[in-house]
Amino acid sequence: QRDFVTIADLSKEKIHYLIELSQEFEKHPNRELLKGKVIASLFFEPSTRTRLSFETAANRLGARIIGFSDAKATSVSKGETLKDTIMMVANYADIIVMRHYIEGAAQYASEVSPVPIINAGDGAHMHPSQCMLDLYSIYKTQGTLENLNIYLVGDLKYGRTVHSLIMAMRHFNPTFHFIAPKELSMPNEYKLYCKNHSIKFQEHTAFNEKIIADADIIYMTRVQKERFSDLMEYERVKDVYILKNDMLGNVKDNMRILHPLPRVNEIAYDVDDNPHAYYIQQAQNGLYARQALFCDVLGITLEDVRNDKTIIK
Ligand code: CP
Repeated sequence: QRDFVTIADLSKEKIHYLIELSQEFEKHPNRELLKGKVIASLFFEPSTRTRLSFETAANRLGARIIGFSDAKATSVSKGETLKDTIMMVANYADIIVMRHYIEGAAQYASEVSPVPIINAGDGAHMHPSQCMLDLYSIYKTQGTLENLNIYLVGDLKYGRTVHSLIMAMRHFNPTFHFIAPKELSMPNEYKLYCKNHSIKFQEHTAFNEKIIADADIIYMTRVQKERFSDLMEYERVKDVYILKNDMLGNVKDNMRILHPLPRVNEIAYDVDDNPHAYYIQQAQNGLYARQALFCDVLGITLEDVRNDKTIIK
């Protein structure tokens, strides 16, 4: 059984392999490779993109979907444990995609599940499928993952997408710039991770035109209200950085702005039409990256996909 619960143990070769697989699905997303399979989509936390792109990925590959986006409407509200929920759903499905608010929940689910678990986000910990679509987006826009200047901006404390990206990029000699107010700065464990893996990083509290001039990627993040225990603190920091069009006059031609979305205020709407904006296409790339993950956890190889005769034009 192959689970996909963390990005931390993915090799460089495996990342390139999953990117190649995603490219195949971008060429032909409509196939019947998963005909007869049932995919469970269990969302214990709200989602728009992750849930709908996983479900679209399954639909476009011919699988059927079961699941929930509101755990309160399930027997979880009667006290059923995560272990029992997973074991029940595994009776019905070939893959379980799960988002949960508890860090480590996906790892735990993978230990009790007889079918593959795909982590669709566990608390402030990891978001590995988002990371694969981020890597795919970076590769598509830059033509490489190597030697890039990547600016991570906003909520770096709770941002599971930026934590996952740091780990995945360790293979590619990046230079990170962490831009956050001190209340939301990158946790020490990830700074230590960078040091232990010889990943270069600088920390800033200012976010302005001058600082971002040599960026290849600006990765904006939302300040995550739902993770704050003190809402006064959220109010203090919520609008600390707002990317506006007038900050983009001196950036590199090929610089692209990413954001895992949803946004609140951190990217002004006038940036959407700027040629450097890439966050809407980034979300679309999630469809192809997640099709690749479904195949990979089921042991369907790149060669199988290249030889696939089930393409629907
Ligand atoms: N990027 C992301 O995880 O978005 P959703 O919360 O809408 O799934």
